Amino acid sequence: MGLHPVGIIGTGKYVPERILSNKELEAMVETNDEWIVTRTGIKERRLAAAEEATSDLALHASRAAIAAAGLTAEDIDLIIVATITPDMFFPSTACLLQDKLGAKKAAAFDLSAACSGFIYGLATGSSMIASGMYKHVLVVGAETLSRITDYTDRNTCILFGDGAGAVVLGAVEEGRGFRSFELGADGSGGELLKVSGGGSRVPASEASIQSKQHYIYMAGNDVFKFAVRIMGSVAEEALLKAGIAKEEVDLLVPHQANIRIIQSALNRLNLSEDKAMINLDKYGNMSSASIPVALAEAVEQGRVKEGDRIVLVGFGGGLTWGASVLVW
Ligand code: UT7
Repeated sequence: MGLHPVGIIGTGKYVPERILSNKELEAMVETNDEWIVTRTGIKERRLAAAEEATSDLALHASRAAIAAAGLTAEDIDLIIVATITPDMFFPSTACLLQDKLGAKKAAAFDLSAACSGFIYGLATGSSMIASGMYKHVLVVGAETLSRITDYTDRNTCILFGDGAGAVVLGAVEEGRGFRSFELGADGSGGELLKVSGGGSRVPASEASIQSKQHYIYMAGNDVFKFAVRIMGSVAEEALLKAGIAKEEVDLLVPHQANIRIIQSALNRLNLSEDKAMINLDKYGNMSSASIPVALAEAVEQGRVKEGDRIVLVGFGGGLTWGASVLVW
């Protein structure tokens, strides 16, 4: 793919300390641990501390990724932060992160593609390296979803958590790195998953607060059906483009939304559950941070070896979806 082979040369993650368990949620909304575990696979999730915002989570993950790559912040040419929970409207979270890191030579921007944002970011960053424009790109997925979650809405509050994952992209040897990307969007499904308040359509007002428009709204079951349809098919398309067969896949790193969605993708790809990196039991759905945190943990746990064929796949609000096939 492209002129120069490009791959992931460092990974990092950060999750806040505070754990919100299913038991605690039982005291907040009409739900129970058994329902949450059987319907979603989630047991607990993390919550950012009051003084922590998205750029703070991103900072920890980015420092780890840059160190793992054997680089310093000054070696980074571009920072892309995929997030739907930026610290503020502007400056971008990427600019706030650039300052915190001291990445003085880096350009910086945020990317908005909800839970697919990290894969969109990989596609963007790796293309800029393959073209010869940049050498090292930091791609971050970071979220403080707890700030836009309505903890009186049992349809959503059981699902989401806070965290950040980061990778450094750079040149790799021939035969390694990204083999394909497959990105997509269907804006006609935008109504299914959204935060409608606070933008130019519905600026913040007393009415927008009262009608809870600053919180995540989700038509859970419709999103579920879309996810089951798209996860397997986009992963298959990316594999086809890469010229890699399903049975050659060593590890699937899926968006961590719901264990049943991951299982359906595994079925479609004819892969057993041990071929998937699953950590949603600990963290819930962290939107754009889910895939990079899962990837960083797979690396930490020694589940990724040189030459392994890895599929990253996600879907989310927009609606958006994306998959990438890479050789480690
Ligand atoms: O990152 C991308 C964004 N989001 C997702 O990927 C989420 C995709 N959707 C899902 O994961 C699932 O749709 C949910 C986990 C959100 C819901 O599971 P479901 O199997 O689609 O359940 P449902 O919405 O059809 O609801 C089934 C029942 C309902 O009761 P009735 O109407 O059958 O009496 C709900 O009211 O479960 C009830 N319910 C709950 N019960 C206990 C919904 N939420 C809860 C809850 N605890 N937290």
